Amino acid sequence: MQTAAKADRLTRSLAAPFLAVNRGLFVFIAAIVAGALVSAYWISAGTRVAPIIPIATRAVAQNAASARSPEPAPSSTRFTSLGANRTPSEPAGVSPLPQRQPPAPACPAYFRWIHEDLRPWRVTGITRETLDAAHRYGPKFRVTVISGRLYVTRYGRCFQTRAVFTQWGILQLLRRHAGRVPDLDLMFDCQDLPVVDAADHAPPPLFRYCGSENTLDIAFPDWSFWGWPELNIKPWDALRREIGEGNAALHWTRRAPYAFWKGNPTVGTVRWELLKCNVSRERDWKARIYAQARPQRHIDTVVQCQ
Ligand SMILES: *[C@@H]1O[C@H](CO)[C@@H](O)[C@H](O)[C@H]1NC(C)=O
Repeated sequence: MQTAAKADRLTRSLAAPFLAVNRGLFVFIAAIVAGALVSAYWISAGTRVAPIIPIATRAVAQNAASARSPEPAPSSTRFTSLGANRTPSEPAGVSPLPQRQPPAPACPAYFRWIHEDLRPWRVTGITRETLDAAHRYGPKFRVTVISGRLYVTRYGRCFQTRAVFTQWGILQLLRRHAGRVPDLDLMFDCQDLPVVDAADHAPPPLFRYCGSENTLDIAFPDWSFWGWPELNIKPWDALRREIGEGNAALHWTRRAPYAFWKGNPTVGTVRWELLKCNVSRERDWKARIYAQARPQRHIDTVVQCQ
């Protein structure tokens, strides 16, 4: 996976602040607000839909609504400023918000990226044709909210329950913020790798869970922080707590001296290479490498990792 590093950076920029401040809903709201603001352009061609302004996202929503960035472009590239070795709350190369628009205290720093994500449509706006053009890139489903009701059109299959969690998240948003979510229409794809070519002269707004420098796919929070039922991985909060407890249960000097890895080796060449380090008849480099390929309901991830 060539863009793995970039996607990883982006994923981290979304996931790390979430873990740090435990504001998963806000992560979600950010993306929804962004989508809503974009989509509202054409849904409300006649009757303009008021942007929702949750308290935590007020500054972002106001700035997005006025179609101006509160800051200079983060950089010529989309993701490089959020270096892997930086804390996401201190993105480098991004100047602080101007005085007149202080960030809301609860608004994570990465919210500012929504301006960058929506830049391709800043001048043109988004029409129904623009949205429908996403079909060129094979979206898997479309989420339409009309008067607080969620409608889903399916165009293809998503891996396991990935789509269900995305839709569930939007349902939660509608329930928790009833009456405040405007009508919206979002196209989704659920494959990892972004596809909307930055050179596309009329790019469609297409949401997915990863982005890269050469593509315009709009990053949307992944479902996985609520858990991964097929692999019996619990929501991050619960998993993090259990990993902490597992770590504390046995001092590292008393553990068996093995490097343990478990994951899907088929999604990147580096992972495939890693398999060579596994114990074999010829050698034992003290690495224990396991492929996590199939649904496994009865394995406790934390106990396995100890
Ligand atoms: C690594 O070796 C262990 C022990 O032989 C084996 O159980 C496991 O399946 C191997 N992993 C892979 C990915 O083949």
